[in-house]
Amino acid sequence: MAAGVARARGTIAAMTTEATGTAARDGEPRRGGPADSPFVRACRREPGPHTPVWFMRQAGRSLPEYREIRANVPMLESCRRPELVTEITLQPVRRHGVDAAILFSDIVVPVAAAGIDLDIVPGTGPVVAEPVRTAADVERINPIGRDDVSYVDEAVRLLVAELGDTPLIGFAGAPFTLASYLVEGGPSRTHAKTKALMYGDPELWHALCARLAEVTLAFLRVQVDAGVSAVQLFDSWAGALSEADYRRYVLPHSAHVLAGLAGAGVPRIHFGVGTAELLGAMGEAGADVVGVDWRTPLDVATRRIGPDKAVQGNLDPAVLLAPWPVVEAAVRRILGEGRAAPGHVFNLGHGVLPETDPEVLTRVVALVHELSARPAA
Ligand code: CP3
Repeated sequence: MAAGVARARGTIAAMTTEATGTAARDGEPRRGGPADSPFVRACRREPGPHTPVWFMRQAGRSLPEYREIRANVPMLESCRRPELVTEITLQPVRRHGVDAAILFSDIVVPVAAAGIDLDIVPGTGPVVAEPVRTAADVERINPIGRDDVSYVDEAVRLLVAELGDTPLIGFAGAPFTLASYLVEGGPSRTHAKTKALMYGDPELWHALCARLAEVTLAFLRVQVDAGVSAVQLFDSWAGALSEADYRRYVLPHSAHVLAGLAGAGVPRIHFGVGTAELLGAMGEAGADVVGVDWRTPLDVATRRIGPDKAVQGNLDPAVLLAPWPVVEAAVRRILGEGRAAPGHVFNLGHGVLPETDPEVLTRVVALVHELSARPAA
């Protein structure tokens, strides 16, 4: 075990005890555990001691300790080393005292395991050697099982042991967002080739998404079986579609993934960017929690999503680059708007920007906890 991980154990246990008040004290019966954490409770729309907070992309480039440990290890390679994954996943928990860890990995990790030749290029993102555009290309996407991603299984088990009462969030990319990388061959602003395939050859499109849905579901099942406390389905680029097209071309495939986890006993978070018009549909796809970007206030989002789902969000990550009083005012506003929802997990509206000062993230966590503290029932 890495020395840093060993050190983290005490810190995390202490933070968790302080934050939840449910961890076992010597000689007392144990209540709690991750399933009783403020994060999981909020996902389930149950009251908790405070509004939980974590940050998308909290494990990553804004942390100097991350840059140090990642130096000379390519991104995909680092995702395949369980000890390294464990250390990177723990870094933001240790530093910020967030209410949940998110597994360090990437949405293209299972796609690579399924046999697609790709790389994650620094500053660019996923790049696919031979884009997927024909029926024969779709056939190249193999089903995956635990043995194909055994490093993820191992990392999750290591992390669950290290994290104690702090929940670990597993994740995967949704079929549309994965399809976009595969069809375009890399990141795209317009998703033009993806849409051309979707509108031009719906049969092939649905075959592609059906395959990706199986890969995604298998990847999430490995994480659930290894002990994650929640899962997040990232459909980052779904906001490129109208609601009608989302419902027709995308929702059935994401719904297949989310339905496949319905009995797994862990909350399912469904997130995308620019999805103001899709929030209701993304909830209907089978989520327990809908992630909201910064464009839609959480009270408005709640009206669109309905009373039977929690919301997650939605501080504009760029606000973290502004002076502290601006950040504080935005946090207060979001906590207020979040009270309209039956459950609120505080987060950003998209991932942490690399230039973010990590100390601001730590202050946001403390502020959310302080402002939302509720007396014990
Ligand atoms: O949230 C976390 O801290 C967990 C780790 C995580 C990463 N990628 C690590 C990563 C998660 C949850 C993801 C998901 C992911 N990957 C998404 C969905 C979330 C979103 O941001 O919308 C998407 C679209 C990808 C694809 C991808 N991978 C992009 C766009 C990039 C960034 C490219 C760049 O360098 O600007 C990556 C690479 C990546 N994934 C990095 C990290 C920490 C940067 C790698 C590096 O340090 O060079």
